[in-house]
Amino acid sequence: MTALHGAPDWYKDVIIYEIPVKSFFDKNHDGVGDFPGLIEKLDYIKDLGVTALWLLPFTDSPLRDDGYDIRDYTTIHPSYGSMDDVRRFIDKAHDLGLRVISELVLNHTSRTHPWFVSAASSRSSPYRDYYVWSDTPEKYRGTRIIFSDTEKSNWTWEPRTRQYYWHRFFHHQPDLNFENPKVQEELLKVVKFWFGLGVDGLRCDAVPYLFEREGTSCENLPETHTFMKRLRAEVDREFPDRMLLAEANQWPQDVLPYFGEGDEFHMAYHFPLMPRLFIAIAKSDNRPIIDILDQTPKIPSACQWAIFLRNHDELTLEMVNDQERDYLWSTYAQDPRMRLNIGIRRRLAPLMQNDRRKIDLMHSLLLTLPGTPILYYGDEIGMGDNVHLGDRNGVRTPMQWSSDKNGGFSRANPSDLYSPVIQNPIYGYQVVNVENQARFPTSPLNTLRQMIAVRQSARLFGRGELHFLHSKNRSILAYFREMGKDVALIINNLSDRAESVTLDLSRYRGYSIVEMFDKTPFPLIARARFHFTLSPYGFFWLSLIPPARTQRNHARAASSASHPERRLIDS
Ligand code: BGC
Repeated sequence: MTALHGAPDWYKDVIIYEIPVKSFFDKNHDGVGDFPGLIEKLDYIKDLGVTALWLLPFTDSPLRDDGYDIRDYTTIHPSYGSMDDVRRFIDKAHDLGLRVISELVLNHTSRTHPWFVSAASSRSSPYRDYYVWSDTPEKYRGTRIIFSDTEKSNWTWEPRTRQYYWHRFFHHQPDLNFENPKVQEELLKVVKFWFGLGVDGLRCDAVPYLFEREGTSCENLPETHTFMKRLRAEVDREFPDRMLLAEANQWPQDVLPYFGEGDEFHMAYHFPLMPRLFIAIAKSDNRPIIDILDQTPKIPSACQWAIFLRNHDELTLEMVNDQERDYLWSTYAQDPRMRLNIGIRRRLAPLMQNDRRKIDLMHSLLLTLPGTPILYYGDEIGMGDNVHLGDRNGVRTPMQWSSDKNGGFSRANPSDLYSPVIQNPIYGYQVVNVENQARFPTSPLNTLRQMIAVRQSARLFGRGELHFLHSKNRSILAYFREMGKDVALIINNLSDRAESVTLDLSRYRGYSIVEMFDKTPFPLIARARFHFTLSPYGFFWLSLIPPARTQRNHARAASSASHPERRLIDS
């Protein structure tokens, strides 16, 4: 096992790329992506510029919830390869400087997990108390149903032992009983197994729901924090450089306790920011973004938000009010087939009506707002989705590598693929694929590569403070990112028209401005008010250089005429 060294808070500096192993590349031609295939594509991932991979569940499972229905926590699903393949994958990723984050599904198992098979066979099974049972479905009535399109209750009747069992997700995914110390021990063993194998981080699935308590919503209970703090303490003792990421789809004030005092999770998703990015660009209005970030409390210094545009689930609309939800539904999911539970099952490019300017702008926001960005596989080439596939499968189709058979994903017969590839004239693999896009410098793929490279050149994006600049023009979202002496000014035009804006830059009077992509110098900040003009959905990433450094840079620029490899700006 090779380990990666570096800062213990490495998770602040990475860009994460989310991948379902089954969807990426099929090396053994059986129609399902696998670890050997993923290993083969690591160079592509490295070239994209991302620095961490988050893999969706890949252990044994009946796959009724794409692997979140765990049958075995430590055996690899045979379609994806072997434990040796996983070890080789982690080693190769580490050799390339890529961190590996995998899943920890704490809250539930599959009904086919041997624990549940035994528990459901007899009330005297030693595993009976691994799950939550009741004689009546009236318990915990204050608890909402998450998969509201498919489940009518959080209780399901188990006829053999004549009791109901509790589940927050699908009925075939019984919740584990965290009141039982043995369950806690089992899950701690799982954590140590994966960290022992060399993964760098664990994304902890569905964390708010671990415990149940009558008279509550059964979410975010204090017992959950007590358990997570214990888990964290054990991780710190044995694996001090690893990361725990909380999936808690909650309001920022309810997520805050998951950071504890820096002694619980290292990271948590910022769920409420995501739908507001989509509202802001649709309404050409910066307020939804400013409001939610203004309401976001400060988090302990070692902690970090994870931010994202899309992922493997529906675009969840739980963290918006009814009016905002209606607006998002009517804007982005007119066709009822695009809706699922309380969300929208579509990919980024179709949501943006395939408008390159909007897609690039969304990436500009993702890469420059505070937090660690997560990209969803395929969105870098603008892949489409398939609303005809059930559940969330329409956003989990095979990666489109080339215009060859099956989009270059697999040599199998098309009918043997785990999912059909996208085949329509706009998003089909014949048109949208990595090979085509690698050829053109301004393709979505190469543009995003360049944006990632610029982001990675300045640590302030992952670590700096955020200060909004206010102006009369609400279509413009402008902010400083600041870390010590390093400053970037980011200006985004959320509207489909050219816009001008006057910003008060007095805070940085005397600084010079350099555009971060092409290193083009802009005029010096001589006066407080500075005027910018932006094209429709345009954006600027500007580095602000203090006067002393400007002079040094001028001197360097003069000498770099004879040493062209020296860069003008060192941000
Ligand atoms: C995952 C979903 C999954 C659910 C139940 C979620 O948080 O992201 O894909 O269906 O957990 O395990």
